[in-house]
Formats: sequence, C-alpha cells, structure tokens
Amino acid sequence: MMPDQNGQPADFPKGFLWGAATAAHQVEGNNINSDLWVMEHVKPTLFVEPSMDACDHYHRFAEDIRLLASLGLNTYRFSIEWARIEPERGAFSRAELEHYRRMLAACHEAGVTPMVTFYHFSSPRWFAGLNGWENPDAGDLFVRYCDRASKHLGDLISYATTYNEPNLPMLLKWVTDLGISLLTVKFMISHATRRIGGDHFGCFFLGNAEKLETAMIAAHHRAREAMKSGPGKYPVGLSIALQDEQPFGPKSKRDKKCAEVYDPWLQAANSSDFIGVQAYTRQRVGSKKDIPPDPGAELTQMGYEYWPEALEGAVRYAASKVRVPIYVTENGVATEDDKRRIDYIHRALIGLEKCLADGIDVRGYIHWTLMDNFEWILGFRPKFGLVAVNRETQERTVKPSARYLGSIARANAVTAPVGK
Ligand code: BGC
Repeated sequence: MMPDQNGQPADFPKGFLWGAATAAHQVEGNNINSDLWVMEHVKPTLFVEPSMDACDHYHRFAEDIRLLASLGLNTYRFSIEWARIEPERGAFSRAELEHYRRMLAACHEAGVTPMVTFYHFSSPRWFAGLNGWENPDAGDLFVRYCDRASKHLGDLISYATTYNEPNLPMLLKWVTDLGISLLTVKFMISHATRRIGGDHFGCFFLGNAEKLETAMIAAHHRAREAMKSGPGKYPVGLSIALQDEQPFGPKSKRDKKCAEVYDPWLQAANSSDFIGVQAYTRQRVGSKKDIPPDPGAELTQMGYEYWPEALEGAVRYAASKVRVPIYVTENGVATEDDKRRIDYIHRALIGLEKCLADGIDVRGYIHWTLMDNFEWILGFRPKFGLVAVNRETQERTVKPSARYLGSIARANAVTAPVGK
C-alpha cells in the first residue's frame, strides 16, 4: 500500500506472510546421498568447496526456527530433501520423514507458518545415476516421492511448492558467459557417473533445458494432485526464478526470452494454487542474449547488478500472466555490507507496496536467506544471510538487516531504515 494521507506507511494486507527461506542442501550439512555431494567431491569439480556441515541446520533447526520467530518473522520456507527421504530407489526412510515432522512441529510451536519446497535443486544420487530428469520414468519417481512425503507430513504443512526455480536451466541459456569451463563439466560428469556406477549422471543444473521443462511441468501437475490426496489441505504452487527483464536496443529479444523462460511456468502456475516469484536483479536483453551490466555499475557478490527495484518488475510481469495469488518466495542480495542489504530490502518493499496499491494480489514476502549458507558452486563466500554463521563454531549472529525486516514484519508496514 502507498503511504496514507498523513504520510504514514499503510498496512500490508492482513495475514501477509513475512519470512525467510533456506534450502536443505545449502544449510543442513552432510547431504551425502545427493547428486550434488557426489559432484562436490569428484576431481575436477565446478564447486569451489564442498558443502560438508553447511550450517548444521539438520541438528540446529529448532534454535534456528526460534531465532526466526524472535526476529518477528511469521513464515519459514524450507525444503525437504528427497535424497534423505528416499536414499535408495523405492526405499523410504521413516526416520528422515520423522525428522521433517519435527521441523514442521517446531514451526507451529514457534507460531511460524511452514512453506515447504519438495525439490530445491538436489536429487538423490541414484536418481542422477538414471540420467535424472531426462529418464522417461523421472516424473513417476518424483510423484511417488511427493505422494509418500505428503502422506507423512501433509497435516503439518501450511503451503508447499513442488519445485524451486525449475526454469533455471532455460534462464541460463540466455547468459552470455556463464564463466564455467565446459571441459571441467565434462570431466566432472564422467567421474561422477563412474563414482556412482550409473548410466549417465543427470544433474538438474546441467540437463537439457527443453527436456527438463517438458518432464517437470507434466510431473508438477501430477505431484500436486498426489500432494493434495494426503492429509492436510494446503495450497500447492511452484516458485520460479523471475528477473526483471528489460529490452536493450531496437532488436531486443526480451519478449522472446520471457516467452521461453517464464511463460510456460506461469501457465502451469495458473492451474495451481499460487505462484512464487523469486527476483534478485534486472537483466537487459539485447538482440541475441543478455547484456552485462554497464562498467562501473554496483555489483553484488554474485556479479549481479544491484537493483532492488527488480522485485516490482518481476511481480508485475507475473501478475500480467497469472490469476492466482503471488507470493515472493525469494528476494535478497549477496553482500558483506549489511547496510546495502537494508537499503535493498527497503527499496524492494517500496516496489511491492506499489504493486499492492495497484491491486496486485501479493500475499507474502520471504527473504533469501535466513542465514549465510552454501551458495552452490560458489561455496560459502557469497553472504545472502540475515544472520551470520561462524564457519568454525556454527555460532549464529543476527545482522541489523534481520532486525530491520523483523520490525517491518511486526508493523506489517514498510518503515524507512534508521538514518534514511
Ligand atoms: C536459489 C537459491 C540461491 C539463491 C541465491 C535462488 O536461485 O533458489 O538456492 O541460493 O537464488 O543465488
């Protein structure tokens, strides 16, 4: 909402979700049955370092959830790990399902709404060994896992998404220079295949984008039905990576890119219960591919342009394509300078207020991420967290940005940071 006549910030809608997100592989630690763990440990590898204990969230989830609640946030978005729940094909671990029941119970005890992602990039190593999502049985296997997990956990889940950013492989096709060595990829995959004795190692990040899209959209709808057949009547949506795409030059392929990268998924979301929008930056699109930021532009630790207004653009694009409610399921910035994170949150939320003022049905803002964690191939260097984590002791330290977002959540209104 825009400020009211007295210049006071107006309330966000009642029941608005204010939260922070994590993903199992990035925080739990020792996800040893996953495909990513295998790739982190072969040589050569794309990963600058292995995830190892990560944030030991597997053991520390209760205190982390209490910490999130103490900040004033009311929602925790996290993923359950397929590689733990089904460590061998068709063999489900009751103990691991119970672990996630305890996590869900901890959320409810702390007054926190749990939003569960069923698939956040990592797969069981046996699934990767079958060529992952490119195996004709992949959809069946994923749906069976969702069905099983939902039967065990569904009564405690408040919201769920099937996938996190399934459109990422398609998005990466537009990047001019990914900055990774194709030779390293080739050797990493062949060594990973040998290590697990599979047919071909099929990892989500490196798969054939078109094949993945077809398989994953079909499986999304079936998985959603399976999830809804269990106990609990929670809404099921999906979260997509959605940059603020801007045309660059007269022959910009911006519309083509949007049609290719976003629209099939927005269409899939339209027959689901909600769409999760995940925005980090703007991207200018030229006549062939993406255009890098201008020299001198402020960059984040990811090399993205610092562009908090991207959230507004992304939400508006989603709203132009879907009729279902929108939740911001990720938004954040990698920086060592927490003041820049505060500024980023403030400006992103002003954009969100404008969307609400225009009648767009946005129902939540979930920040990426609760704590500094394992940023995939970049390891632990990028700092996206509201909370710092000491890599030696695992001690958590709340950053000022966490207090700032918490104060907004408590007020259910955007206030300017101190000193602005
Ligand atoms: C992913 C997260 C990731 C974050 C920051 C999103 O693409 O869902 O797993 O850490 O962006 O790069």
